[in-house]
Amino acid sequence: MSAQATPIPMTSRAGGALGGVAQVTGDKSISHRALILGALAVGETHITGLLEGQDVLDTAAAMRAFGAEVQQIGPGEWAVHGVGVGGFGEPADVIDCGNSGTGVRLIIGAMATTGISATFTGDASLRSRPMARITDPMTLFGACFYGREGGRLPMTVVGTGEPVPVRYEVPMASAQVKSAVLLAGLNAPGQTVVTEQVATRDHTERMLAGFGAEVSVEDRSEGRVITLTGQPELVAQDIAVPRDPSSAAFPVCAALIVEGSDVLVPGVSQNPTRRGLYATLVEMGADISFDNQREEGGEPVADLRVRASEMTGVEVPARRAASMIDEYPILAVVAANASGTTVMRGIKELRVKESDRINAMARGLEACGVRVEEDEDTLTIHGLGPGGVPGGGTCATYLDHRIAMAFMCLGMASKKPVSIDDGGPIVTSFPSFETLMADLGAQIVRANR
Ligand code: S3P
Repeated sequence: MSAQATPIPMTSRAGGALGGVAQVTGDKSISHRALILGALAVGETHITGLLEGQDVLDTAAAMRAFGAEVQQIGPGEWAVHGVGVGGFGEPADVIDCGNSGTGVRLIIGAMATTGISATFTGDASLRSRPMARITDPMTLFGACFYGREGGRLPMTVVGTGEPVPVRYEVPMASAQVKSAVLLAGLNAPGQTVVTEQVATRDHTERMLAGFGAEVSVEDRSEGRVITLTGQPELVAQDIAVPRDPSSAAFPVCAALIVEGSDVLVPGVSQNPTRRGLYATLVEMGADISFDNQREEGGEPVADLRVRASEMTGVEVPARRAASMIDEYPILAVVAANASGTTVMRGIKELRVKESDRINAMARGLEACGVRVEEDEDTLTIHGLGPGGVPGGGTCATYLDHRIAMAFMCLGMASKKPVSIDDGGPIVTSFPSFETLMADLGAQIVRANR
């Protein structure tokens, strides 16, 4: 939902060590996909552990608008009665995807090869984000688009009732684009082939196979090649959503930088396409153990035990970016509390996220007394060592949930409190963030300093 909400300023201050157990919410990427594939399957898909953040609730509402029955049964427990591949009906109103790029891009993929039209919009952040990356491949299937300049939302999508299968090489590392093409390929006859040069999160491929689609993945010299046979009958599934490694990153990193902390974060997905932050933290000297490694809901998971650590800056290579693309804001906070310099390379995709995250982190860190350098594709942070960040700044969050949470974590380890202009967007991905952090001992209040 993208009604103009009143900003919620927040302030975080140091309040001693963090301790206890952090039960983080379900994975956002998997939650969106469970609802969308459930809506395209025949029968009842039963989901447990669904993230009930606003982004995912907006996708649930969209699936209803296209004709699926979507019901909450209990906390995190949902049932979806799908309409079958190609069975979407025309929505009676504009589809509002709120803050969610994943929601709008995947849903456009899912409806673009059906002979219906729909108009999409979102909040000010989503309306400023590029959609050509989706409309380019959808045009190859035969769909048409009428949007604002630069292909921005609001946008009307005229789907095609007679799609042709497509071979598409994704030009940037983007799981959203790959997934949109695969979802569009579901209703095209024959084989749709998507190639990505760098492996991005693979939840769509995994889940399509789980729902009974014929999908193969091969590592070739040109990259990862995914081949999907169109027009399958998707069979409803039981889906247990694992806990989100991108949300877990906040209590994990807060515990690392707040002296004396010792926190357990159970059941976190360790999918190799999502593990880049954790590999980087270990390289920096973080004391994290990955206990009870097991499989849950088709994903590898582990219980993370995290103790406060003295860390050292590192070079984060460009090839790791896709596996930690959402984690750079919180890594920047860790880097500010490490000794030495951290250089993050190959991150220009961060400029087209919910905000320009390189700019948002650089300006906010500077406001808190941290020296940074940036260029189009790189962010360099000169760490001040454990507890060395002066703090005392108010950071602009630009409607970006991860920027808001990252700066609240910074305040827990800084000499003076850190404020943000608006923590409202946190509900898009991690609605329990404030209570979960408070239970660990964090001091976050809804007020300016
Ligand atoms: C996502 C893919 C990533 C990520 C986003 C979730 C997904 O976006 O940043 O939060 O669920 O497919 P890009 O595809 O733009 O890299």
